[in-house]
Amino acid sequence: MTTLEMRDVTKRFDLRDGLRTTKFTAVSHASFTLESGRTVALVGQSGSGKSTIAKMILGLEKPTEGTLLIDGRPVEHGRKADHIFRKTVQMVFQDPYASLNPFHTVEHHIARPMKLHHPGMSDKEVHRRVVELLDRVRLTPGEEFAKRLPGELSGGQRQRVAIARALAPEPKILIADEPVSALDVSIRLGVLNLLARLQREENLGVLYITHDMATARHFSDEIMVMRKGEIVERGPADDVILHPQAEYTRTLIGAAPDPERRLRELMERRASV
Ligand SMILES: Nc1ncnc2c1ncn2[C@@H]1O[C@H](COP(=O)(O)OP(=O)(O)OP(=O)(O)O)[C@@H](O)[C@H]1O
Ligand SMILES: [Mg+2]
Repeated sequence: MTTLEMRDVTKRFDLRDGLRTTKFTAVSHASFTLESGRTVALVGQSGSGKSTIAKMILGLEKPTEGTLLIDGRPVEHGRKADHIFRKTVQMVFQDPYASLNPFHTVEHHIARPMKLHHPGMSDKEVHRRVVELLDRVRLTPGEEFAKRLPGELSGGQRQRVAIARALAPEPKILIADEPVSALDVSIRLGVLNLLARLQREENLGVLYITHDMATARHFSDEIMVMRKGEIVERGPADDVILHPQAEYTRTLIGAAPDPERRLRELMERRASV
């Protein structure tokens, strides 16, 4: 089992305003644990600090204070450490258009991280595994999709490529920062269901970042609610939705009046296309 822990992490940014520099606290004393086999949703409005948390986990931003630990050991970000880290933690970003290189084939995108993590693997074996992964994310036939360029794919298909690429190094933890909010509503549920299936099959620990309480409840074991840099509420998903403690959580749930109904609507719409 793999455990990722954020311990009392704070991130302050310098804001320059002419000659003056002020500090802005984007994340304040965040602590939580993410374990393989479990999905934790991080929910909050725009600007609450969700992506800053994701970036610190991935080493794209350095915490001002606090520690990040994997299996109880502090994470160091540096070249060699990053290589080991990338085997454990992978990510899926919001924008499938920005995250794929338009000049490289689907196969190239997935083969690269695979080779990096299995340097001795033959090209034939890499190809076989790429096709297998494409089939698993339902880009079938994988042989055909492997040859395509990102420009020859729909948004949903691109996001499936991004998911296959994230799984290529066989990670234990997946950070999904609004993985479907850039996609058309009609295909969101399909991609979320795919993520949920892979999470179960690979026993992944998933941090699912979203604005949306309905999908947070449906796809997560636990929900953490973030407001202005602070985690203001957390608990089992149903408890947080049915018995919210913080006023802010109630507001967020209010923004999605009937989560069950919204999800049903989403599914019906999907069934009708
Ligand atoms: N590099 C930076 N320099 C200064 N401020 C930053 C920087 N990155 C983020 N911020 C600020 O930190 C706050 C949190 O940003 P963050 O991207 O984490 O929000 P978010 O919850 O992911 O929002 P969204 O839902 O819109 O993606 C915002 O006010 C943002 O302007
Ligand atoms: Mg964000």
